[in-house]
Amino acid sequence: MSNKILITGVTGSVGKALTKSLQARQVAFKAASRNVAAAKEKLGLQEEVVHFSFDDPATFEAATADVEKVFLLGPSFNPHLDQLMTPFVAYLGKKGIKRIVYLSGLGLSGPVGLLGFHARMEQKLIQEGFDYTIIRPSYFAQNFRNYEYENITERSVVFAPAGKGKTAFIDVADIAAVATEVLTKEGHSGQAYELTGPEALSFYEVAALLTRFTGKQITYPEPDEDTFKAGLKATGVSDLIGEYMAIIYNNIANNKVAFTTDTIEKITGKKPTALETVLEQDWG
Ligand SMILES: NC(=O)c1ccc[n+]([C@@H]2O[C@H](COP(=O)([O-])OP(=O)(O)OC[C@H]3O[C@@H](n4cnc5c(N)ncnc54)[C@H](OP(=O)(O)O)[C@@H]3O)[C@@H](O)[C@H]2O)c1
Repeated sequence: MSNKILITGVTGSVGKALTKSLQARQVAFKAASRNVAAAKEKLGLQEEVVHFSFDDPATFEAATADVEKVFLLGPSFNPHLDQLMTPFVAYLGKKGIKRIVYLSGLGLSGPVGLLGFHARMEQKLIQEGFDYTIIRPSYFAQNFRNYEYENITERSVVFAPAGKGKTAFIDVADIAAVATEVLTKEGHSGQAYELTGPEALSFYEVAALLTRFTGKQITYPEPDEDTFKAGLKATGVSDLIGEYMAIIYNNIANNKVAFTTDTIEKITGKKPTALETVLEQDWG
């Protein structure tokens, strides 16, 4: 019977949280990964893990067997994400799997240069007649642990060209809770949801929280964009990634994503988790 949810991007931070959330509701799903053994080990799932890659159409048929809905999430740092995902989305259309919940990004649905891929994917799903729900989360609270670990532990800094701008950092578990609702309940078709944490904070405030939880003095040197890009390059990160991240931080610096929404509470019935709580869990 075709009744399962296929979770793409399952070994990332959102995908992992979504598996826990669906398990808690006893919802049937399949997890898709390029490396089944590694995914099984990382996620410890009893559920089926299928071999899948957006860039290998030979994996699409088995991945979508018994599937009626897809949680569509593409990897970070790929400015051509829409091109990567297009063959799979075309396959879903041909196979008649219409229900897609797409993980986009807050502040990225308009013209954002190199990061226009989310806007193009959103448009594709809308124009091609999918039964879609788009989720646009703010900057993940878990990014500090996942991407800033060395800066925080070895250099005692939070290094981002975010100026004095603020954003309402979101817990990936709250994204997963919303995704669970929209994947399992009616009434979310054709919607685009902007999700944020409960309070907009600056990177100065983040550094103060990290100082409290790490027991080390963490500072925010407020690097400008060129210093940030040069700093990344010095650690071997490509210019492209520097450019990509600079756009995200430029949105924050200019307070384009400084607002909060009550969408998480409206959909899940629970208030979103504060950054402070996530940082205490990750660093305390
Ligand atoms: N970080 C943020 O603050 C933020 C904010 C808003 C939106 N977003 C969006 O969230 C998404 C990233 O979410 P995340 O951080 O949870 O995930 P992630 O860690 O970037 O990666 C998700 C997974 O994608 C899978 N993947 C990579 N290449 C693939 C391919 N060719 N085919 C199939 N799967 C592939 C990988 O799984 P396997 O190795 O197991 O295949 C990886 O674990 C991006 O689209 C980003 O734009 C992020």
